[in-house]
Amino acid sequence: MAESTKSAKLTIDGTDYDLPIYSPTAGPDVIDIRKLYGQAGVFTYDPGFTSTASCDSTITYIDGGKGELLHRGFPIDQLAEKSHYLEVCYLLLYGELPTAEQLEDFENRVTMHTMLHEQMHFLFRGYRRDAHPMAIMVGVVGALSAFYHDSTDVTDPWQREVATIRLIAKMPTIASMAYKYTLGQPFVYPRNELDYASNFLRMCFAVPAEDYEVNPILSRAMDRIFTLHADHEQNASTSTVRLASSSGANPFACVAAGIACLWGPAHGGANQACLEMLREIGSVDRIPEFIARAKDKNDDFRLMGFGHRVYKNFDPRAKVMKESADEVLDLLGIEDNPVLQVAKELERQALADPYFAEKKLFPNVDFYSGIILEAMGFPTSMFTPIFALSRTVGWISQWKEMIADPQLKIGRPRQLYQGETLRDYVEMEKR
Ligand code: CMC
Repeated sequence: MAESTKSAKLTIDGTDYDLPIYSPTAGPDVIDIRKLYGQAGVFTYDPGFTSTASCDSTITYIDGGKGELLHRGFPIDQLAEKSHYLEVCYLLLYGELPTAEQLEDFENRVTMHTMLHEQMHFLFRGYRRDAHPMAIMVGVVGALSAFYHDSTDVTDPWQREVATIRLIAKMPTIASMAYKYTLGQPFVYPRNELDYASNFLRMCFAVPAEDYEVNPILSRAMDRIFTLHADHEQNASTSTVRLASSSGANPFACVAAGIACLWGPAHGGANQACLEMLREIGSVDRIPEFIARAKDKNDDFRLMGFGHRVYKNFDPRAKVMKESADEVLDLLGIEDNPVLQVAKELERQALADPYFAEKKLFPNVDFYSGIILEAMGFPTSMFTPIFALSRTVGWISQWKEMIADPQLKIGRPRQLYQGETLRDYVEMEKR
């Protein structure tokens, strides 16, 4: 951690407490309150963590005001344009862009771990066919810890590395199997000669009766979706993975916890909810009605795909996603898609509306990703599993960083207790 060069003074009941302030390489200063309870006997209060830095990190930086997202210092738009998902995975995990040799070695290691233990197929069969693929993923990813015992000891750096590679390699296989299972189609095994995104598309769309020819433009768009979702600082699911792992639990179980958190509509589930909303709106003439509902204090409807806890400007991922959506729809010849027309007009009207301007609500990454995924042939239920697959590297990079920290402590927040104080048990006949 950086040396403290300044301090903040807190006065409680006439006593002063000096709190060290640390300056990051970018972003706001942080006030260190770790000794506050010991010295002053008070807690700080921050439900939702709107003003709390929960850890030190060197992986991802977001400037919400500027709409900037950097991975290890590199802007996301450059990475989306010039790099590709596995190279970004390497960057997030190891801190630098790889040389050609390092990248080849990393890609080979990932490729060699894409298959799933054959016995895991029985796990899928235990689910109902109409199960949501996220429900299957939560279970199957957690169950990896029952199949890969040689990579669950978090105190061993070698085992941590093997677990890392396994998770990145197996996630597309698991997500595609969850999809195939809900369709009632046979599982498609991975093909090691294909790149990461093409392999995923093939595992989702090939059938034994007919192979799937991977279109390079769709594969590139898929890879870009993976890249744009790879990591996002201390978001809810990443913080969940960190908190779960702080107890020393194995990474497969902790990533399952991250998947559970991601599923919610305020987080990764927003991509599914956004497309469902665009379909419900149905035509451009109904947009004002939905905008009015989003603004109505008495209606809990929100414009899905709008707003972000950190971005108070355009989500830089949404910009790239929008370009990608145009490319894919153009390729597939569906530029007059009604959902896209509603999306474009909704974006225009919302951005021109003072309510959204005042609250700094801009389209986020989920606004356009669903349109691309739908055009590729994915059902809405697969949108969040694809987000989970992509974010796995972020969860694992943050987990590795945390576990390697010699100062690691179990995460244990406190509370502002508002309940009853001590009282005696009341016998049943006296209640
Ligand atoms: N539509 C209408 N009003 C909104 C919206 C929206 N999408 N988002 C926020 N607001 C309003 C909200 O009602 C509140 O108004 P007021 O101050 O009058 O009470 C104000 O803006 C601030 O909202 P908040 O809920 O306090 O903000 P937050 O930082 O806690 O929530 C959010 C962030 C992403 C959960 C929220 O913007 C939201 O629910 N958006 C829709 C869901 C969505 O698209 N989620 C995906 C996030 S990006 C992908 C990811 O990283 O997971």
